[in-house]
Amino acid sequence: MPHAVLARLPPGSVRLVIAFGLLLLFSLLVLRRRPAGPPAKAAAARLPVRDPAALFLSLSAGGNASIAADLRALTAGPHLAGTPAAGPAAAHVLGRLRAAGLQTLTREYAPLLSYPGRASSLALLRSDGSPLARLSLEEPADEGRRLVPPYHAYAPSGGAVAEAVFVNLGREEDYAALERLGVGVRGRVAVARRGGGYRGGVVARAAEKGAVAVLIAGRADGGVERGVVLLGGPGDPLTPGWAAAGGAERLGFDDEAVKRRFPKIPSMPVSAETALAIIRSLGGPSIPAEWQAGLGVDAGGVGPGPTLVNFTYQEDRKFEKIHDIFGVIKGSQEPDRYVILGNHRDAWTYGAVDPNSGTASLLDIARRLGIMLQSGWKPRRSIILCSWDAEEFGMIGSTEWVEENLADLQSKAVAYLNVDCAVQGVGFFAGSTPQLDKLLVDITRQVKDPDVMGKMVHDTWNEMNGGISIERLARTDSDFAPFLHHAGIPSVDLYYGKEFPGYHTALDSYNWMEKHGDPLFLRHLAITEIWGLLALRLADDPVLPFDYQVYASQLQLWKF
Ligand SMILES: *[C@@H]1O[C@H](CO)[C@@H](O)[C@H](O)[C@H]1NC(C)=O
Ligand SMILES: *[C@@H]1O[C@H](CO)[C@@H](O)[C@H](O)[C@H]1NC(C)=O
Repeated sequence: MPHAVLARLPPGSVRLVIAFGLLLLFSLLVLRRRPAGPPAKAAAARLPVRDPAALFLSLSAGGNASIAADLRALTAGPHLAGTPAAGPAAAHVLGRLRAAGLQTLTREYAPLLSYPGRASSLALLRSDGSPLARLSLEEPADEGRRLVPPYHAYAPSGGAVAEAVFVNLGREEDYAALERLGVGVRGRVAVARRGGGYRGGVVARAAEKGAVAVLIAGRADGGVERGVVLLGGPGDPLTPGWAAAGGAERLGFDDEAVKRRFPKIPSMPVSAETALAIIRSLGGPSIPAEWQAGLGVDAGGVGPGPTLVNFTYQEDRKFEKIHDIFGVIKGSQEPDRYVILGNHRDAWTYGAVDPNSGTASLLDIARRLGIMLQSGWKPRRSIILCSWDAEEFGMIGSTEWVEENLADLQSKAVAYLNVDCAVQGVGFFAGSTPQLDKLLVDITRQVKDPDVMGKMVHDTWNEMNGGISIERLARTDSDFAPFLHHAGIPSVDLYYGKEFPGYHTALDSYNWMEKHGDPLFLRHLAITEIWGLLALRLADDPVLPFDYQVYASQLQLWKF
């Protein structure tokens, strides 16, 4: 291109261009010779900015205390999306981003959300239909009664008076085992234990087999697991592919694309105690030994009957406002390139693990970046910190935002770095798209292990399961789903610990975190540092630290 332009210039212009070029060269030389201007003090303050990672890490002192304080504030009460109780946690995040000196933005959407109505009930009846026992639908651990009662979001209103069948975990192989025993669930209530994969899938499978309702038992240690049962991907079910902004067109409930996403039969999570009361009343073929072991108690048969279950559920479906909150640092050289860090803020209960361990870490990143900005650092590319709402209803806050900004994100987003449950126990786990593997592994060499003195996260990660393993993010159960699976943006997901007993229950409280999850908040600190350093490298490296050789070898490995 430049050649062609020069060739078309008349001879006079060529001389002008050469003269101009010489002038430019001359002024550059003169400018370079000017003695360095800034006074010594400012120069010292600016010195570490040459190494943003070192500066970021140098700000770790007191980070765990600051994270603990934020977590305590965020989890002071329940903050279910779309309810007035969600306000204080949103205000806290906004306030902390502002205090750090970041530019803030809020985006509101009005998706369809789903809450329990007042008239749910569960009772055991004799085979003649006379009442035997009322069963509790409450959560034993919810002593304050401040929480939303256990329910499945988007389960339809309805009910059944029918025999029950115990279906173990409600997987395909469990129904096959029942079939061998000559037991089916058609016209009956399926009673399952949690652990058979996505609860929406468990409900859909039971419906496919002809069940009229599903009850899913929580863990024996007390909690009852709330959760969504929608099918078919993330986002507001009535605005698939576009944002649920005010005035947006919405599909009707009779639209095929909408019907496919909703469960066909009512369902409900119940306590282990309530489920056992039903299971113990069942006759029929004996419960297989390995199911019995999972159940942890001796119970008789898988059913059906002779008792009947009387179950009713009332759903309260409504359009409610949700709020995504953003903290933005504009890039100095490539402002149109975005490095995006995201975590959701909404919780089924108090959310100490899920998700506010991640929120508290995000706020510590904001705190440190704020100090770095003050000391003269500016990222090369833009950094966007995102606090999503309504993730628990199916990644709605993040999905609506991705849908609204799809073209922009596809052309400008460098990477999306997700943290949902930052800390639920011991051991570092990570998933990423393969071009980010190497960067991720490198960074864990720079971050202190929170549990073993003198080691780095990389050492313990490497020793944990016979070598470093990075998950490939095929899951769609957190906010990276719209970024990765819909927009195709390189993504990372980070967490400490794999499973915790309080998942989506009243036990997910600050108290649990302080006692069991992370008593010194040092695992939080490790996540903060890995997450922050990833962002800094992606925002500041002159050449993006992607490794496509790793990507190619992963494609080879997974080809079929
Ligand atoms: C089942 O429960 C509902 C709601 O509590 C009640 O109205 C109904 O009479 C019960 N049915 C039977 C057969 O007990
Ligand atoms: C932060 O970590 C230090 C050890 O590095 C510990 O002494 C302190 O108690 C921790 N703070 C909190 C709030 O857990």
